[in-house]
Amino acid sequence: MSITILGIESSCDDTSSSVIRDGVLLSNVIAGQAVHEAYGGVVPELASRAHQQNIIPVVSEAIKRAGIDKSELDAIAFTRGPGLMGSLLVGTSFAKGLSMSLNIPMIEVNHLQAHVLAHFIKDTPDDTDQPNYPFLCLLVSGGNSQIIKVNAYNDMEVIGQTIDDAAGEAFDKCAKVMGLGYPGGPIVNRLANEGNPKAFAFSKPHIPDYNYSFSGLKTSFLYTLRDRLAEDADFIEKNKADLCASLQATVVDILMDKLRKAAKDLHIKEVAIAGGVSANTGLRDAFHDHAKRFGWKIHIPKFAYTTDNAAMVAITGYYKYMDKEFCPMDAAPFSRVVL
Ligand code: KG4
Repeated sequence: MSITILGIESSCDDTSSSVIRDGVLLSNVIAGQAVHEAYGGVVPELASRAHQQNIIPVVSEAIKRAGIDKSELDAIAFTRGPGLMGSLLVGTSFAKGLSMSLNIPMIEVNHLQAHVLAHFIKDTPDDTDQPNYPFLCLLVSGGNSQIIKVNAYNDMEVIGQTIDDAAGEAFDKCAKVMGLGYPGGPIVNRLANEGNPKAFAFSKPHIPDYNYSFSGLKTSFLYTLRDRLAEDADFIEKNKADLCASLQATVVDILMDKLRKAAKDLHIKEVAIAGGVSANTGLRDAFHDHAKRFGWKIHIPKFAYTTDNAAMVAITGYYKYMDKEFCPMDAAPFSRVVL
């Protein structure tokens, strides 16, 4: 018997819905929110309003593109948290209404767990390129930088995480002080491709275990700009590409140093990346390089599954459905959480 899951994601500023049947993607619709660009960051109140406008068309389109009727759905998986409370409320409330009207169960999904499980989305029924357990996953986004040991779809251990800023935040904040747009990560990535990664040296943290810190790098970047701008008012304009390349190289080095240490200590050679920053081409190159040097089997998600999307919510829902892990109607969203 086939299992068909509708996924709904609304944790931040993307409204997304997806249909997955037996682990195979049938549709994945994402509506972004350009309204935040003018503010240089996500404005929670505006995000909730945009979700409210987008949710019905996005879900309808996902069902239509999947080529199914809503009566064929077996369950609705929705992101319960972490994320922005107002944004999460829109997706959660919609999931409740739809599950009641169709008389099918609801499945709550942890957004971070979903990012990791994005690696299990099959594009075709014979797609076998999924990680084997246990594997390590570097989860890097605007709000998280974690190394996760994934023992099973429902057994994940965070073995290291940032003690201050996330990697994406470091990209975004440094981009902001250079006067680049928002979100800064993709812009830094684009400019870095034309620059020299060794042009500037920024500080790297010395903290124990598998934890990360990016606040020192941010300060060191700021001080470099301050000192150089005092000598030359056009310093940023003249050195944009080199600044971006050096910043990106430093972030990638920091991320890979700890990941390499974890892989070595735990004797795990199967390694994945997930989250928005996993779109970074410098990080992807470093992964390929490590695969060659250390014999890692690497898993790099398609660009469509790096940022927030409902396909990852639907695949998580699919696994939970198989274990009959349904949630009650009074499930309320949560803004903060650990895995
Ligand atoms: O996972 P995500 O879409 O949202 C959450 O934070 O949940 O990640 C967004 C983050 C932003 O900080 C953005 O600047 C960063 O991912 N990002 C990138 C790239 N694409 C997105 N950072 C570096 N290089 C990229 N190509």
